[in-house]
Amino acid sequence: MKGWERTVYCGQVQAAHVGTTVVLSGWVDRRRDLGGLIFVHLRDREGVVQVVFNPERFPDAHRCAEAMRTEYVVAVRGEVRQRPPESVNEELPTGTVEVLARDAIILNDAKTPVFAIEDETSVAEDLRLAYRYLDLRRAPLQRNLRLRHRFYQVTRRYLDSQGFLEVETPVLTKSTPEGARDYLVPSRVNPGEFFALPQSPQLFKQLLMVAGFDRYFQIVKCFRDEDLRADRQPEFTQIDVEMSFADRDEVLATMEGLMVELFRELRGIELARPFPRITYDEAIRRFGLDAPDTRFGLELQDVGDLFAESAFRAFAQPLAAGGRAMALSVPGQGDLARSQLDQLENFAKGFGAKGLAWFKIGPGGIQSPVAKFLPDALLQTFRERMDAKEGDLLLLCVDRPKAAADAMGRLRLKFGQELKLIDPEALAVTWVLDFPLLEWDEKEKRWSAMHHPFTSPMDEDVSHFEDDPGKIRAKAYDLVINGSEVGGGSIRIHRREVQNKMFQALGIGPDDARAKFGFLLDALEYGTPPHGGIAFGVDRLVMILTGADSIRDVVAFPKTQRAQDLMTKAPSAVDPAQLKELHIKLDLA
Ligand code: AMO
Ligand code: AMP
Repeated sequence: MKGWERTVYCGQVQAAHVGTTVVLSGWVDRRRDLGGLIFVHLRDREGVVQVVFNPERFPDAHRCAEAMRTEYVVAVRGEVRQRPPESVNEELPTGTVEVLARDAIILNDAKTPVFAIEDETSVAEDLRLAYRYLDLRRAPLQRNLRLRHRFYQVTRRYLDSQGFLEVETPVLTKSTPEGARDYLVPSRVNPGEFFALPQSPQLFKQLLMVAGFDRYFQIVKCFRDEDLRADRQPEFTQIDVEMSFADRDEVLATMEGLMVELFRELRGIELARPFPRITYDEAIRRFGLDAPDTRFGLELQDVGDLFAESAFRAFAQPLAAGGRAMALSVPGQGDLARSQLDQLENFAKGFGAKGLAWFKIGPGGIQSPVAKFLPDALLQTFRERMDAKEGDLLLLCVDRPKAAADAMGRLRLKFGQELKLIDPEALAVTWVLDFPLLEWDEKEKRWSAMHHPFTSPMDEDVSHFEDDPGKIRAKAYDLVINGSEVGGGSIRIHRREVQNKMFQALGIGPDDARAKFGFLLDALEYGTPPHGGIAFGVDRLVMILTGADSIRDVVAFPKTQRAQDLMTKAPSAVDPAQLKELHIKLDLA
């Protein structure tokens, strides 16, 4: 590159450069040959600038431009000049200037790209992912990854300023329970034994507190073999944080500072502090979900008291068995067709509900397939409670609490989106607090940890380990933005006897506990400070900060919903010799 050292990025050529000679290097974004003049849009990571090749003034450079094709890699030396007013290009940030090429060289040629490198694309995502290095040349993806870079810098600067130390923890390790399946790595030198990739650095960060580091953070990859969705990847990044001698409110306040900094620096948005807080119970009651989207109303109502005495068994029976009746009033939807209402019921059933009752508020009264089972007075009271007007639609689900809440929470979201009740500019940042410590696993018929087994119960609830474990609240918290869980954490158990109770409640016997977490249990006996922390999902936060629809648009080399990398074709079969070395035999029946 001797003599061709770049002096400025293409996207940064501006009026101040007029009259100077610049050297540019980049990719041919577009080339127009007007017979005489050739115009090339030259692109690099900062943007695009127009280069003009004039056959009369600089014939060698022009000859070089004749050979250029889309996506060729070239270097150009030339003079920056003002464009005449009629040829100013408003769409290009560099559109008031252009570069008159004096010399040019082709550094490398390129095949015709398999798809056009354009901001807006309708190309199938599988093809984009197979040629990710081409896809990543597109400006929106470049912007997303640049924001992600700045996200890391702001995070490190803020946490450093607050006294946090960045410490790396192992990737080849033992299973950490976060509720997903582990990715396993066989050990060659220890036949029959496996490492697990970390679902999070949870235990290590707690041990760093035992070791006296006081405040820790890490921007760290985590691995979870779970069913993938639009906001989940099998490997994803956390900002992982742990603090000693801190209670919940100190953790929340310190982390609000981080969020304020990120939104200010990356989006110019000033978040108001303290962030709103809502308890888990209230979130479920009003929104049906523990990650509520509070950007719009359309809140659910608990109407169990109205229907508990009803003679209609489909309602009375689940309520008698401890169920819930949750209702939603949807304005102006009282004219939905039967088929649309059936679709809504199927939608609700998809979230575990047994049924969904609807009530159309018409001019002649209330129309519903269940009206005949319910007294008029009850229907009227229901309508009044729901504040429903003529033309509105009431939806009601009576079911086990979780099924009713899930189904109605999802219906609320669906209507929020379809009726465009969500202001795309709005930003709703909320802490969700006071989660239950345990949740009943109906399939396994046992309690499981709602957050993880190291989360501390609330002091005043500890006695319920004996009588009613479902009642114990945890010192756990989530941060929710626009209905997306972007972070979660807790104050931890720092006393051995409480950890024992927790394992007992989870049905983890002493031997099992020792085999899995012996090192942690030992550590708890060597002077463990009270401590707590949190982890944020970097990918989800960057999605919100960039407005991306898919988590794959903020990850350089993402995996598909089937956990495959379409470019490298991972995962893939391996050489039998390699398997033999690892003492592994396949059984692919
Ligand atoms: P948790 O399991 O809640 O907590 O994870 C923290 C945050 O990580 C993000 N996240 C994911 N992002 C993308 N793809 C995934 N598959 C995925 N899974 C989780 C979410 C989530 O809020 N050790 C605890 C934290 C602690 O207690 O300090 C933990 O990992 O945004
Ligand atoms: P069925 O008697 O089961 O045919 O149900 C009559 C009506 O009640 C149908 O419209 C169902 O959708 C509705 N329904 C049944 N079970 C429930 C339930 N648990 N919650 C709400 N509606 C229900």
